[in-house]
Amino acid sequence: MSHATSIPHLRQQGTATQLVVDDRPFLVIGGELHNSSSSSLDYMRPIWERLVGFHLNTALAAVFWELIEPVEGSFDFALVDGLITKAREHGLRLVLLWFGSWKNGVSSYIPEWVKRDYKRFPRVRREDGKAIEVLSTLSPASRDADAKAFAALMRHLREVDGDDHTVIMIQVENEVGVLGDSRDRCAAANEAFTGAAPQELFEHLRQHRNELHPPLLHRWQSTGMRTAGSWEEVFGRGHETDELFMAWSYARYIDAIAAAGKAEYALPMYVNAWLNGADQVPGNWPSGGPLPHVLDIWRAGAPTIDLLAPDIYQTNYEQWCRDYTRRGNPLFVPEMRRDEEGARNVFMAVGAYDAIGVSPFAIDSLDPAAGGVLTRTYGVLEQLAPTLLEHQGKGEITGFVLDADHPTVTRTLGEYELQISLDKVFAYKAERGCGLIIATGADAFLGAGFGFCVAFRPRTLGPAQAGIATVDEGSYCNGVWTPLRRLNGDETWGGDYWRFPADTQSAAPLNGAYLVNAGTAISRCTVYRYE
Ligand code: DGJ
Repeated sequence: MSHATSIPHLRQQGTATQLVVDDRPFLVIGGELHNSSSSSLDYMRPIWERLVGFHLNTALAAVFWELIEPVEGSFDFALVDGLITKAREHGLRLVLLWFGSWKNGVSSYIPEWVKRDYKRFPRVRREDGKAIEVLSTLSPASRDADAKAFAALMRHLREVDGDDHTVIMIQVENEVGVLGDSRDRCAAANEAFTGAAPQELFEHLRQHRNELHPPLLHRWQSTGMRTAGSWEEVFGRGHETDELFMAWSYARYIDAIAAAGKAEYALPMYVNAWLNGADQVPGNWPSGGPLPHVLDIWRAGAPTIDLLAPDIYQTNYEQWCRDYTRRGNPLFVPEMRRDEEGARNVFMAVGAYDAIGVSPFAIDSLDPAAGGVLTRTYGVLEQLAPTLLEHQGKGEITGFVLDADHPTVTRTLGEYELQISLDKVFAYKAERGCGLIIATGADAFLGAGFGFCVAFRPRTLGPAQAGIATVDEGSYCNGVWTPLRRLNGDETWGGDYWRFPADTQSAAPLNGAYLVNAGTAISRCTVYRYE
């Protein structure tokens, strides 16, 4: 007899928010497809196996308003059904990306009947008065048309997938915001901007005053924290205020769409962000998108959205993780680099920030064999996921990335302080490292990664020194630990370090040093204390 499981949802475990799928916590080991791949089931045919080769458990695939509702009121879900069937055949889950009103700030995915009817579905106007190919957030007609299509999609998903839960989460729109100007200047937008700023926003800002992003708080304080007046009267003049206004406006529009969808089938939903760079102004990045400095506005304006998600291609990965875990926002990274740097950051997001999941972009044009480090990283993550999820949110996991600028980090886990450094063996020193460590017991640790070594120091009363009792490399086969070598001698530097050698497949001597056990490894270490 089949047992009905709950709809995918989020739940709290300690400090972590987890995605629960079929009643069990689930780590999204994901990859996002190129934008147009999922528009053709034939094109997708050879890709599914490739995804499995990466050890992916979830594909992020776009679904398109223009193909779902090519004629107003008439819906076609053949493509969606085909994606679900193929994902099931390959043991994969799906996160569907709703390319509706906006994708990367523009409205190229709206159906032709919406494109052509610019009077019914008005466009953004920039300062020069020119309309651009972007739907205005200030149009209830556009919002309602999008919401109707999205609700139809969610209703269909409930009908075809309400028991199986192949689709586990939904991204609503994609990297929204106005490009080329700091705000929309169409007549309706100007009226809303110069009219009274919304009371619901003030209510939220008042309630969360102590948690607000400092620059937002300062802006509000600079006008005496007014709770009545136009946007400029409350937040001052400037493109920063234009961006706040746009953030509210996008948040309200998208919240209405998400609410219409959740009324049909309440899967977890998120909105993703195109991140800003230094020396830029709103409009260089999509103004109004869910960036850290307007996250409070989004939380106020889009309570139906479960989380705000960064697309992290930039180098300061950890800073973005920090910014996107403010105010209890759970971390999910729907887009990031797929190269070695991306692979290393997987350990950071999952190990240090309790991420629900990660998903390098353009996964389908990469060969898993050539994908090298990412494939190996996902291979170990797949094995570690159950243990990781069991320990999430309890202060029992750490994750890190090491390089020449950050050769060492110190972390505390249970009774020990862990000094984690770039690995070295004889003359050879790893240039890059990354990993995660889980405290599985008082003196027992499980680790994975490459290019680092760990020394332990007791931090509680008792014998003052720590030694390594045992190190075993191995793997999890169907959840059962299968040891391979007992590591000692060179492989632990005579018991000084728990080592994870550099990820190089070369077994050849390098500068006289033999790189043994090269590759992304999993091992278990037990520690004892003495004096
Ligand atoms: C970010 C977008 O969200 C993706 O859909 C894709 O266009 C990538 N940029 C391309 O780098």
